[in-house]
Amino acid sequence: MKQVSKSINMNEGVSMKKSMILVALAVALVFAFAATAHATSSKTWNYQEDYYSWGTSFGASDDAAPLLSDIGDNPSLPGVHGNYTANTAKCGICHSVHRALGDGVKLLNTDVATCAGCHQAGATTVTEVVVSWEAGGPHRSGTPEQCTTRACHMDNPHGAGGSEYAIVAAKLLNPDTDVQLAVAAASPASGITETELNALGTWDEATRSAVRTGYNCNIEGCHFNTLLAVLEEGYSEDRWSTYNDPSADPAGYGPKVGKTGHLSVAAANDETAFAPVDSCISCHDQTDAATAGNPYSTVSGYTFPHSQTPAGANNTDDARAWLWMTTAGNVEGDDAGYFEVAQDKAKDGACLKCHRSGTTSGIGLSH
Ligand code: HEC
Ligand code: HEC
Ligand code: HEC
Ligand code: HEC
Repeated sequence: MKQVSKSINMNEGVSMKKSMILVALAVALVFAFAATAHATSSKTWNYQEDYYSWGTSFGASDDAAPLLSDIGDNPSLPGVHGNYTANTAKCGICHSVHRALGDGVKLLNTDVATCAGCHQAGATTVTEVVVSWEAGGPHRSGTPEQCTTRACHMDNPHGAGGSEYAIVAAKLLNPDTDVQLAVAAASPASGITETELNALGTWDEATRSAVRTGYNCNIEGCHFNTLLAVLEEGYSEDRWSTYNDPSADPAGYGPKVGKTGHLSVAAANDETAFAPVDSCISCHDQTDAATAGNPYSTVSGYTFPHSQTPAGANNTDDARAWLWMTTAGNVEGDDAGYFEVAQDKAKDGACLKCHRSGTTSGIGLSH
């Protein structure tokens, strides 16, 4: 407000015409200020807003009011796409009962009710969770329809029939993960528990992300010969040993053997590893300016496992990385590059970017 009155005072005594322009300017400034103030402090339950907003204050009288996502049962039942109870606050983020936009559908803020209507970068969106989403790439999530036909996400926005585990349901992911997650939760060696899967423990978002992403990719018929999410060293689970074509080998993909893999979350130890692992995106680290995330997301800026085809500016220059992966000769980023073809996945640059220090030690120097 101060700034507005100052600009008026500064211009006292000018001609009528100029004053009118300035009044218009001042009005514009007042509106600009009103918009800023309203984003941080609403006076009642979002009386200014047609739709509630997941990532902003829900409208108490002070700026310190909790975010809508933090009230009621929302923290323990995360995500807007499911886990609805009497004490969660979610319907109003997408549907407005009295102030719905006339050109929307089903009281929504959008006229395209597929995932893409709200989440596709570049399209009109009603959420901060935006993914670059072009045609092509191994997951071919190029069209609005394809995002629900790859078996990764569910095909309804409410999560009906979804996972029994809150952290999986929150991301609207395929509940076919649940059988294998139950196996992991039953083994103390896995580091995975029912409590954590239901968002009632201490895991941070990176750990939740690694577990639900890993087990999602592991769904039978997809990457089912890998163990992708590993929280405890040495933990193993049975996996098919090959990717045989089932039509050529109807007996299956067997035999199953116990498999383990690289830790999905681990601190750097400054001896062999100079950078930590915070979920899959530490290694599958292609980023994209068009891809954003909310504060509850670990995927802000990252494209994995979505589009591999051009959308925004990205950290592999003008092209895209095969396997969403950049490479380097050491943790300083010397000789940085990216995988361009399938064969590149064998390159050591995928490992040296964490396992060799710039000049002194690590794998390849003192090991
Ligand atoms: C993340 C956004 C989102 C949230 C949160 C949400 N909905 Fe919806 N809802 C949608 C979309 C998108 C559709 C349209 C689905 C379609 O056409 O397939 C829809 C459709 C509906 C429909 C119409 C179904 C039909 O077949 O016509 C009802 C009823 C509904 N929602 C009620 C609710 C209620 C009640 C809640 C809270 C418990 C809720 N929604 C929460 C996005 C949401
Ligand atoms: C009507 C709009 C709307 C539609 C349609 C919609 N979403 Fe969302 N989605 C949201 C909103 C709102 C959020 C909450 C995040 C935010 O805005 O901060 C969200 C969040 C998400 C998240 C992140 C959840 C989290 O906790 O971080 C995922 C994953 C997601 N949506 C997947 C989907 C998929 C898959 C579909 C299609 C089946 C879909 N969405 C359809 C509005 C929508
Ligand atoms: C330590 C680095 C690292 C981490 C962490 C990592 N990956 Fe990978 N990933 C790789 C490398 C390198 C390859 C290529 C080599 C290969 O295929 O094994 C790969 C390949 C893959 C493949 C294709 C391989 C196949 O056999 O089908 C999938 C799928 C995959 N990663 C998913 C994930 C998921 C999901 C996570 C998180 C739970 C994850 N990755 C975490 C480095 C990593
Ligand atoms: C994003 C950083 C990062 C990348 C990339 C990475 N690692 Fe690691 N790696 C770590 C961290 C952190 C640890 C745990 C360090 C510790 O506590 O010993 C680790 C541990 C290991 C271990 C010891 C595992 C165990 O169970 O004792 C091996 C082996 C290893 N990494 C191999 C690789 C290989 C091979 C690649 C490349 C395909 C790779 N790493 C890529 C960060 C990384």
